[in-house]
Amino acid sequence: MDSQASYWKDRALLEWQLEIGATDAICDAPIDRYALDPAPAPKPEPALQPTAAPAIAQPKTDAVAEAKKLVSLATDLEALSTAMQGFEHCELKRGARNFVFSDGIPAARVMIVGEAPGRQEDQIGKPFVGQAGQLLDKMLAAIQLDRRSDDAAQAVYFTNVLPWRPPQNRTADATEIAMLLPFLERHITLANPDLLILMGNTPCQALLGRTGITRMRGNWVEVLGRPAIPMFHPAYLLRQPLAKREAWADLLSVKAKLEGAS
Ligand code: URA
Repeated sequence: MDSQASYWKDRALLEWQLEIGATDAICDAPIDRYALDPAPAPKPEPALQPTAAPAIAQPKTDAVAEAKKLVSLATDLEALSTAMQGFEHCELKRGARNFVFSDGIPAARVMIVGEAPGRQEDQIGKPFVGQAGQLLDKMLAAIQLDRRSDDAAQAVYFTNVLPWRPPQNRTADATEIAMLLPFLERHITLANPDLLILMGNTPCQALLGRTGITRMRGNWVEVLGRPAIPMFHPAYLLRQPLAKREAWADLLSVKAKLEGAS
């Protein structure tokens, strides 16, 4: 066969293979499957024997119930921190470097609830120490609040909904929030601040059951018997500096609330 005839024959063969659905070349050389050893005969089924009853599938541990049980035993913040750190049902724990519980003094009148540790928080083990946290410190200083203060009137106490950094800083999912909420609620009850600032959507979802920070920010609500104000997250303010105007209005509202004016 001359080379041109061979070309057209090979091409027709390839087209036919494509036609019948062969889309990938698996080996360089074809395999003659008729020349291979025949497939081993199937093993005969063993004779039926009486067997023990199959194990009954265990219900999955209820992570929320377990969290509630743990928090009910925690009578102070140290015990709560230890219980939360030992909670094994949240997968985020396996990927995080550090457990991030809180910063500042618990006696502070103001408690800030953020979303979750970021990279720097995960490295250092404290909430709001990265770029967003530094902006937040400046914002708080503008209304004479300071996380390093020992004076409850000026101090600020920080925590997050999640104590472990989610991979790639992704948003907390509903299951994670649900299993960690008992810890957060107990944290707030034990710290007993005069007011709460909810930074961004995640703490609103956890504590108010709804999101939509653009509409919710600046409006006082009640959380566990105390006033709480949703605010734009400082990470959002870093991306949208124009929103600092609303954040400033919310800070003034916090100041007025602390002074008993609203
Ligand atoms: N963002 C948060 O919500 N919390 C932190 O601790 C850091 C960044």
